[in-house]
Amino acid sequence: MQVKLASSYGFCFGVKRAIKIAQEHKNSATMGPLIHNQKEISRLKDDFNVGLYNSIDEAKSDDTVIIRTHGIPKGDLEKLKAQDTKVINATCPFVTTPQQIVKKMSADGYSIVIFGDEEHPEVKGVKSYGDDVHVVLKAQELDTLKFKYNKLATVAQTTKQKEKYLEIVNNLILRYKEVRVFNTICDATFENQAATRELSDQVDIMIVIGGKNSSNTKQLFNIAKKNCNDSYLIEDETELDDLWFKDKKLCGVTAGASTPDWIIQKVVDAIELY
Ligand code: F3S
Repeated sequence: MQVKLASSYGFCFGVKRAIKIAQEHKNSATMGPLIHNQKEISRLKDDFNVGLYNSIDEAKSDDTVIIRTHGIPKGDLEKLKAQDTKVINATCPFVTTPQQIVKKMSADGYSIVIFGDEEHPEVKGVKSYGDDVHVVLKAQELDTLKFKYNKLATVAQTTKQKEKYLEIVNNLILRYKEVRVFNTICDATFENQAATRELSDQVDIMIVIGGKNSSNTKQLFNIAKKNCNDSYLIEDETELDDLWFKDKKLCGVTAGASTPDWIIQKVVDAIELY
């Protein structure tokens, strides 16, 4: 089977940076999973003794704790610092930006609308920086919201699609006089999405590699599926199925922003054998 890789795929700048930081801090622990990839988390544990805490209550005062790319809620960060835990902040700078925007706009008397998933760690973190903050996924959800202030500011979860954010923004502008719009969507995600769109149009089958709980991987999969019905989302080469490749000639491969190159290479090697 011939394999063609997307022109942009895999680790983004923020994830590369966070992994480098973790590797530089042996015997530390990350607060929540550093990235959405269990195998990479295991590698950091085995090779660098970087552990994983799921709650700030697990952190002790003499620990070194690494804050993950998605960031953590402001109150948790303050609690860690207050108990003298050594805090290494690996929050992606593109996530720090919406945190700071929400903080500033709240201080200036704006109600905040975040376009994102309420349960996503990044959104929980960003939300914690404001006062009157509302999270929505669809424009219809705005119908029932009650804002504390008459000025609105809006930011988006970094991995969301710009087209969907526009729907929220358009809706807000139709309803309110003052709306400050901040495009906080990350271009790294956008580049991987554009490359997936282009490649999935040219191939017989598309393989999207990434964590099944990773939001940007799921988006790549949805984009691929639109152009190429034979698109599959897998976490590693063991999930490949012989039947998928029957009568196919060209296989496109892309990967979510938390997928390490060594996993992608194993998948490519396995596909080439079909
Ligand atoms: Fe940061 Fe964008 Fe990656 S927000 S973690 S560079 S997908």
